Amino acid sequence: MLLQRSVFITGAVQGLGKAFSEALLERGARVCLTDVQAKKGFQVEKELQKKYGKDKCTFLHCDVSSPSRLEDSFKTAVRLFGHIDLVVNNAGIADESQLENMVNVNLLGAIRGSMLGVEHMRTDKGGRGGVIINIASTAGLTPVYFFPFYSAAKFGLVGFHLSCASNPHLKKMGVQFGCLCPAFTDTDMIKIGDNKVLYANEAQQILKQIGINKVETVVEGFLQLIESPNCNGDIITVSNREGIQYKKQGKNKWKSHL
Ligand SMILES: NC(=O)c1ccc[n+]([C@@H]2O[C@H](COP(=O)([O-])OP(=O)(O)OC[C@H]3O[C@@H](n4cnc5c(N)ncnc54)[C@H](O)[C@@H]3O)[C@@H](O)[C@H]2O)c1
Repeated sequence: MLLQRSVFITGAVQGLGKAFSEALLERGARVCLTDVQAKKGFQVEKELQKKYGKDKCTFLHCDVSSPSRLEDSFKTAVRLFGHIDLVVNNAGIADESQLENMVNVNLLGAIRGSMLGVEHMRTDKGGRGGVIINIASTAGLTPVYFFPFYSAAKFGLVGFHLSCASNPHLKKMGVQFGCLCPAFTDTDMIKIGDNKVLYANEAQQILKQIGINKVETVVEGFLQLIESPNCNGDIITVSNREGIQYKKQGKNKWKSHL
């Protein structure tokens, strides 16, 4: 199923985004990697093209907080690949000293990426249908007192995901919405500094207590979601304590991850 997929992914040059991209490339997909980090992006493009083939991936410099840059990148990806059938809104930041940026990137960037995906994929306007995966967080399902802005943006994203997935009109257009909610995962994002979280010492202690996901486990959860024949409305959580949990729409109650 993945073999034919053409993918547009944001925040793809490091951490989870890079790992998701490699997992997709390994399974034969074509991937348009986008990220705000240009230099690193072109290095990663070179590395992955060498490994998977020049026609299999391309990098576009794109800041998801700029609606016009995001739209231009999406158009370029469609021109290069012919079509897109999987959009992964992964770009994110976690810095409690940057409220506006946090909302612009983590919430508005993902919403805009989703809407561009819908416009392109909707079958009633000549599209082929497809899947939109939003990378939220367990902080979008349970409160995190040392990360309130981050948590607010991710709760917003989960709400957007569930609302779109329950929209009968979007269903008819052949567009599915899946959502991945990892808990703390071993990437640069959790290098906690003074500006990143409130009560940094307490945050470090809690992190030690609950443990940290390996990137590979989160990738496994991501693959379960996109390989599902119908992931619409589903949420996968990945936590060190409970592993990968697949929540079908409306069937499970949320548990605390802290
Ligand atoms: N690491 C964790 O503990 C964790 C837990 C839950 C959810 N997440 C989510 O997973 C996603 C990936 O995070 P990660 O852990 O790999 O972190 P990361 O910091 O390693 O990677 C984030 C990527 O997003 C890119 N990015 C940041 N701002 C951008 C912008 N304006 N436009 C485009 N790209 C931008 C960065 O350049 C980077 O490549 C994020 O949405 C994050 O919120 C991470």
